Amino acid sequence: MSTLRAFVAIEPPASVIPAVQAARRFLADLEARLRWVRPEGMHLTLKFLGNVEVASVPVILKAMRAVAGQTPPMALHTTGVGAPDPGRTRVVWLDLGGETAMLDRLRTDVEDAMFRIGFEREERRFHPHLTLARTRNRSVRLPSGLTVAVRPAHFRVDRLSLYSSDLRPGGAVYNALGHARLSGSRGPD
Ligand code: 2AM
Repeated sequence: MSTLRAFVAIEPPASVIPAVQAARRFLADLEARLRWVRPEGMHLTLKFLGNVEVASVPVILKAMRAVAGQTPPMALHTTGVGAPDPGRTRVVWLDLGGETAMLDRLRTDVEDAMFRIGFEREERRFHPHLTLARTRNRSVRLPSGLTVAVRPAHFRVDRLSLYSSDLRPGGAVYNALGHARLSGSRGPD
């Protein structure tokens, strides 16, 4: 039985790269202690699936497309550098703002759809973010004031992607297995 490590995510456009570069400059003092995600590998994870059978990929894509067909595109932007606990963290991310209530709804719908086809529910609270870097070993303390320091990057979300993650010594390599276009209508305001 052949398996792969998979997750459902939103792929940000290249327009977020200046915010990533700005974050990197502001975190220069921590450079030696961080391992940066490759910009082309950055993603907003909605659901981590773990090891899945290759044969179930079409089932997952079908479930994603059912959700995406009822979800309108949404506008998000980066707000600044953050972390689960900025005083002591092993991961550094870009926090996201904008239509986050819609994003939260989308995440819940994806979670429910994946539960219906056999995946366990995520217990951790959802915090929308783009992971920038992970620490090489020990946790780090983030300098304060980074939210104002990093100019926001705006982007539109119009599809979901299913990725495989190949864990290699130089860092994970992600491959898109398929996409699901957000094509729901917005309804009356
Ligand atoms: P994160 O960067 O937002 O933390 C692909 O591996 C992505 O899935 C990671 O970038 C991570 O998202 C998320 N992920 C990895 N392992 C996970 C796990 N065990 N549980 C939940 N999410 C995980």
